[in-house]
This record gives sequence, C-alpha cells and structure tokens, in this order.
Amino acid sequence: MNQKPSNPFDSLSRRGFLKTSAAGMAAALAGQGVVFAGSAPRKFRVALIGCGGRGNGALGDCHEAAKVLGVELEVVATADWFKGKAEDTGQRYGVPASRCFGGAEGYKRVLEANPEVVLMATSPNFRPVHLMAAVQAGKHVFMEKPVAVDPPGGRKVIEAGRLAKQKGLAIVAGTQRRHQGSYLRIHHQVAQGAIGSIAGGAVWWCGGALWYQTRRPDESDADYMVRNWVSFTEMSGDHIVEQHVHNIDVANWYLGRTPSSALGFGGRARRRTGNQFDFFSIDFDYGDGCRIHSMCRQINGCDGDVREFFKGTEGETWGDGGLKTSKEISVPDFPNRGPYVQEHVDLLRSIMDEKPINEAENVATSTLTAIMGRISAYTGKLVRWRDIMEVEESPYYSLTLKPTAEDFETGEVVAPPDDVAAVPGSERRSRG
Ligand SMILES: NC(=O)c1ccc[n+]([C@@H]2O[C@H](COP(=O)([O-])OP(=O)(O)OC[C@H]3O[C@@H](n4cnc5c(N)ncnc54)[C@H](O)[C@@H]3O)[C@@H](O)[C@H]2O)c1
Repeated sequence: MNQKPSNPFDSLSRRGFLKTSAAGMAAALAGQGVVFAGSAPRKFRVALIGCGGRGNGALGDCHEAAKVLGVELEVVATADWFKGKAEDTGQRYGVPASRCFGGAEGYKRVLEANPEVVLMATSPNFRPVHLMAAVQAGKHVFMEKPVAVDPPGGRKVIEAGRLAKQKGLAIVAGTQRRHQGSYLRIHHQVAQGAIGSIAGGAVWWCGGALWYQTRRPDESDADYMVRNWVSFTEMSGDHIVEQHVHNIDVANWYLGRTPSSALGFGGRARRRTGNQFDFFSIDFDYGDGCRIHSMCRQINGCDGDVREFFKGTEGETWGDGGLKTSKEISVPDFPNRGPYVQEHVDLLRSIMDEKPINEAENVATSTLTAIMGRISAYTGKLVRWRDIMEVEESPYYSLTLKPTAEDFETGEVVAPPDDVAAVPGSERRSRG
C-alpha cells in the first residue's frame, strides 16, 4: 500500500483557498498546525436539537473539531422534548435559559435563534421534519443516523438534501464509517477494482439488548414514547434501522448502489416493552447476481459480531481491513482521527472551504434500505426498492408510522400497546 506524504495544504482546494477570508485562511492553517499571531479565528454559531447522550456527545465532538481547525464555536440555542435537558446542556455551554427550549416545537425556536449550524440528535422519527425546516431556514446540518422510520420520511430527507444542494448548505450524517480512515482506505481500493466486482457478502450488527424504560403511571403517551424511543418502531425504525444501518450503509457505499429487493424474517423473543423485534435476517438482492446477507440481533448471552464482508471476483475484504488482492493500488492520505470528531471536522471544513458536503441522499437511501428489510421481516413478503421509492399504488410507498412527528406537534399521540409486535404472514400488525 503506497502512502503519499502528508501535505498541510492538501485539504484546501485552490478555489476555496483563494476565496477563504484572511481569518478563515488563518483558521484553516491553524488546523494544520500553522498559526498566525493576531488574526481573529472564524466563529461558528451552533445549536443542538435533542440533548440526550448522542446530542451532548455530538456537541463535544463539534468542539473538538473546532480545536482541530483552529476555529471558535458558540452554542446559541438548545432544544429537547424535556426543557430541563435543554437547560442542562445549555448551562454547560453558557446558553441563556431563554434560548433553551422544550416541547415538540422547540426546534422551531432554535432555528429562530440564528445558528449557522444545527446538530440533530433526537430519535429518528423527527429527523425528516426537523431537517426540512432547517434547510428551508438556510442552516448547515449535522444529523445523527438513521434519518427516518418509514418510506415517506426517507423520501422527504432526500428532498431536503436536494434543496440543501441548491442552497449551498452542508449536511453531514452520523453514519461514521464514511469518515473513518480504516474504511476510507479499503473503500478507495475496492472502488479502484482491488477485488474486482463485488459478487456477494454479509453485514452484521449482533449484540446485547439495549436499555429500555417502563411506563410511569402519570405520564402522557408522548412522554413515554420519547423516553422509551428505542423500544418503539414508530420512534426508532426498529434496531435494523436504528443500529444496523451503519453496516447496511457500508454495503450500499461499497457496492455504489441500493438493493433492488429484500426478503427476510425476524422475531421478538426477549423484549419487555414497545413493539420491536429482537432479531432480523434479510437477503438483500443487489442485482447482477450479487446478494448481501444482513443479520442483526439484540439479545444478551449470544455471540456478537459487528462488521461487513465482501467477496469479489478478484479478491475479498472486510469493511475496514483484511483486504486480499493481487493488485497494488496507491492509497491517498485519509484521516486517522476517530470518526465522531472527523465528521465535524469534515462538516466545518467544507463550510469554510465553500464546498459543502451533502450526505443526505446517502444516509436516506441506507435508512430506506434498512426500512425495506424491516417491512419484509414484519410482513413476510418480498419488498422491492421500487415499492418504497416509485410505485405509488404500493401499500409500502405510503406506509406512514403513527404517531408521526406532526402528531407530536398537534398533541395527538396515542402510544401503540406494549408487547404487541408484527406477525409475519398475517394482517395483525404486519404493515411493516
Ligand atoms: N452514530 C452513533 O454512533 C450513534 C450512537 C448513539 C445514538 N445515535 C443516534 O442518535 C440519536 C439519539 O440517540 P441518543 O442515544 O442520544 O438517545 P437519547 O434518548 O439519549 O437522546 C434523545 C434526546 O432527544 C430528545 N427528543 C426526543 N424528541 C425530541 C423532539 N421532538 N425535539 C427535541 N428533542 C427531542 C429526548 O428527550 C432525548 O433527550 C438516534 O438517532 C440514535 O440512533 C447514533
């Protein structure tokens, strides 16, 4: 593997370099270890929607990225369903309480607080509505994966991504692996033909059970669903979407396309709350005879695996290493920093460089791929990509999980019953 020597100017395009303001240029060079005395660093006004574990993590990662780039960050507003959580995060970053918002419409108030970049880390059911509003308001976005729970939601994210492109806005998604050096190096070689054409493979996310919350006697359906979102398909998309999307995204990325259909199965064995499955096994047909098996499970006490494997006509590889090839392909420098921070470095740098990254379509199509697999497992039917993307008469095209994000805003939330899951091959909750 030939590595090119590192050049501090590599990451700055000529056009972007010439257009960057003196301060921005100094900041970018500071990120490469070059510092000019006396120049004011570029400042980003940032806001966060969804102040839970990942939201707070993303804000920290964004601060780390700012340090790498030598720029400043000001957190101008926060929003969470629970106002207290927005205030806790806000307090840590010096945000006045008047700009820490609660409730279903807090995201609208955040957009009014004039941020330049908005970080989104609520449960994924809200993402399509929040993203569209942010793009319409002219904001750059970092959004956590997955980005929808049903086909109309996924298509809305694609639409928002196209609008962002027209407006020159950046959108980076938290799919991580597309910003991770080990994956970028293997992907580069696979794209250059290191293993010939990919003929088949497998992707896994098999691990233990996630956390869950039980219902409090006095709480509303909406509060319960927000607190226990990882147990309800309507909030998370189920774990094939919520967690396994990482590996499914690698398959779509390495193959450069989405599957034409999915046929799979799954079941519920151990969960106590909500309506999700515990395991899925899906056969994704990518056309040209190429099939990728996807397997995910969240059950304690079982063997686990989180990775991706591809067999090509001229070699084979794991997603992030173990490449077997007879070809010598030179590999450019890719970052070695952890992907959580690198995502924000790439986002902020792309804004400074006036070359906005736009990952909306990638993450939306990977989310939709996982949704297609889930629908097949819930119904027991073969589901085609065109059923969710093109054929308006298909019941899957318009499949909308309720309560929707809009229902949370209008206060019309009725929680589905706990422990009633889809029954494949039957009409009972098998809609997908
Ligand atoms: N990339 C990764 O490695 C990774 C890791 C963990 C989580 N995630 C993703 O990040 C997202 C959040 O996960 P988490 O673990 O932080 O969950 P969490 O429950 O810790 O946080 C979610 C927060 O969003 C808030 N919220 C819910 N609905 C809201 C709304 N309409 N408006 C404002 N706030 C709202 C909740 O009150 C909660 O504080 C999910 O999409 C998850 O899949 C990604």
